[in-house]
Amino acid sequence: MKARQARVLLTGATGGIGREAASVLLDAGASVMVAARTAQGAATLAGELRARHGRSADQVPWAAADLRESAAVERLAREAAGWGCNVLVQAAGAPAFGPLQAQEPDAMAAVLQANLLAPMVLTHALLPHLRRQQRAQLLYVGSVLGAIGLPGYSVYAASKFGLRGFAEAMRRELAGSRVHVQYLGPRSTQTGFNSAAVQAYNEATGTAMDSAATVAAALLRMLEDESPERFLGFPERLAVRLNGLAPLALDGSFRLHSRTLAALPTLLQGRTEP
Ligand SMILES: NC(=O)c1ccc[n+]([C@@H]2O[C@H](COP(=O)([O-])OP(=O)(O)OC[C@H]3O[C@@H](n4cnc5c(N)ncnc54)[C@H](OP(=O)(O)O)[C@@H]3O)[C@@H](O)[C@H]2O)c1
Repeated sequence: MKARQARVLLTGATGGIGREAASVLLDAGASVMVAARTAQGAATLAGELRARHGRSADQVPWAAADLRESAAVERLAREAAGWGCNVLVQAAGAPAFGPLQAQEPDAMAAVLQANLLAPMVLTHALLPHLRRQQRAQLLYVGSVLGAIGLPGYSVYAASKFGLRGFAEAMRRELAGSRVHVQYLGPRSTQTGFNSAAVQAYNEATGTAMDSAATVAAALLRMLEDESPERFLGFPERLAVRLNGLAPLALDGSFRLHSRTLAALPTLLQGRTEP
């Protein structure tokens, strides 16, 4: 749909990609309900956006929800429905990077909760309302790592592969309905999401990073052209294709990534977190 017809519930609005997405959507004429983990974060951002874009409280409302809590997710869906939301953009997400042995089970559960379960529960709670709209869109911010598993990203890739599977199944389940399902897969992006370890890994493996503005522009394009799935960056788009067709053939392509992961403690010596 055209941005000016969109009333978007945006999760992760205080994040690097979320903030850019909120601005780009507002510039294009959408209304945006900014959802963040804390009331203070959401209210402050909404106030800034209203002032910067000359918008009213109805055009930029805010909501707070810790997406790891199902009750908070259900409440968020009720608030969005009461506001007349017709687009859900799920940009909230939690990072996980490092060898599997370095990840604690509780942290794994938290990542799956934020990246996979929360979008599923939010979709479940909001779908009856979206089905009553003339037209509605569910846009999931996934990752290239929802289609390619890389060394160091076992837990994160599991969450984003899961999200992509969920989006694909929902796209097919809702085909012919008024609700259109989309999955956006950014590549590595310059936000606070990525630790010094990720940046060292990216440098050592020659992995390019996009700006959050590039991702936000792609998100707006997707909203308006309604494409079902898009991955950002080259060679990432090609790698996603090849990995989908013949994943085993690509196994040998990631030895440098494996070696880099093992060498990270050395690479990080003397560096400080950005
Ligand atoms: N940056 C990348 O390299 C990259 C690449 C591909 C895909 N992505 C995806 O893009 C999305 C946005 O990432 P980003 O780079 O903008 O990351 P970011 O700057 O760290 O922002 C993440 C946002 O998600 C929110 N969030 C996380 N867990 C939450 C929870 N339990 N409840 C409520 N909010 C929660 C964060 O809120 P708090 O600030 O309160 O934690 C923050 O607003 C994520 O889904 C990420 O997986 C990122």
